[in-house]
Amino acid sequence: MAAANEAFPRTGLSGQQTTLGGETVGSIRSQNPFMVAENVNVHYGDIHAIRNVSLEIGKREVIALIGPSGCGKTTFLRCLNRMNDSIESARVTGQITLDGRDIYRKQQDPVALRARVGMVFQKPNPFPKSIYDNVAYGPRIHGLAADRAQLDDIVHTSLERAGLLKEVRDRLDEPGLSLSGGQQQRLCIARTIAVNPEVILMDEPCSALDPIATARIEDLIDELCEDYAIVIVTHSMQQAARVSQRVAYFHLGLLVEVDETNRIFTNPQHKLTEDYITGRIG
Ligand SMILES: Nc1ncnc2c1ncn2[C@@H]1O[C@H](COP(=O)(O)OP(=O)(O)OP(=O)(O)O)[C@@H](O)[C@H]1O
Ligand SMILES: [Mg+2]
Repeated sequence: MAAANEAFPRTGLSGQQTTLGGETVGSIRSQNPFMVAENVNVHYGDIHAIRNVSLEIGKREVIALIGPSGCGKTTFLRCLNRMNDSIESARVTGQITLDGRDIYRKQQDPVALRARVGMVFQKPNPFPKSIYDNVAYGPRIHGLAADRAQLDDIVHTSLERAGLLKEVRDRLDEPGLSLSGGQQQRLCIARTIAVNPEVILMDEPCSALDPIATARIEDLIDELCEDYAIVIVTHSMQQAARVSQRVAYFHLGLLVEVDETNRIFTNPQHKLTEDYITGRIG
């Protein structure tokens, strides 16, 4: 952990964290832990992008990951469903469990894992297929529907839950790419939930959307968290405050502080967290 300490400036502010000792400030624990990361490190070649991060993610919890550009939010998120596997230079160490089982164990099929831990990206990325086929894709490859009627049912239910069915009911055969950006993002969410994930990872899901489309996605997050654990990366403090119950602040690959959202925004314990949320670190 020596390298970790070097990354933290020591501050003299009274009542605030002055040294870190390599430990995350606040509590990494969740009341109902479901996904648990322990001492996770990620290297891309010589770049040490995630440094000894431990964090528990609870069932039916929305946790927001915040921090300056390049601090490792996306890298950490991608560890949670093994998306880093496809990056040749990436080396992940430590342990991540889902419902008690190591997601990096040899027998774990990454495709099956990604059905349980779905991901929504910054830029909506529908497949160049119809609206229907976008949502049906996952259930088809995972054999979730016995027949066409069942598949129709999954597609409709997923679109409904993603708040998109009303707008696309009569145009399911049209290309997903013919939808507006906000609709495309809800289509991607419908595609993700069609395979019944247990965790949904969202990497700045609203950064390409206008305020109305953003509000719709935020409402959706509120509804979805009744069933799923949601980990959302956001650069918007307002968004983190609106949608999450806990916030994790990353800085230079370290998890500096994690706490209840209200506490992070009203009474952060670490100076780096305070500097970031007040706009002194951008
Ligand atoms: N595929 C990659 N190959 C090499 N280095 C990478 C790769 N992806 C990320 N990095 C490096 O890892 C560090 C963390 O990057 P990451 O994308 O996780 O940051 P981030 O917090 O998501 O930033 P942003 O807010 O800009 O999206 C950065 O130094 C970045 O340059
Ligand atoms: Mg990122």
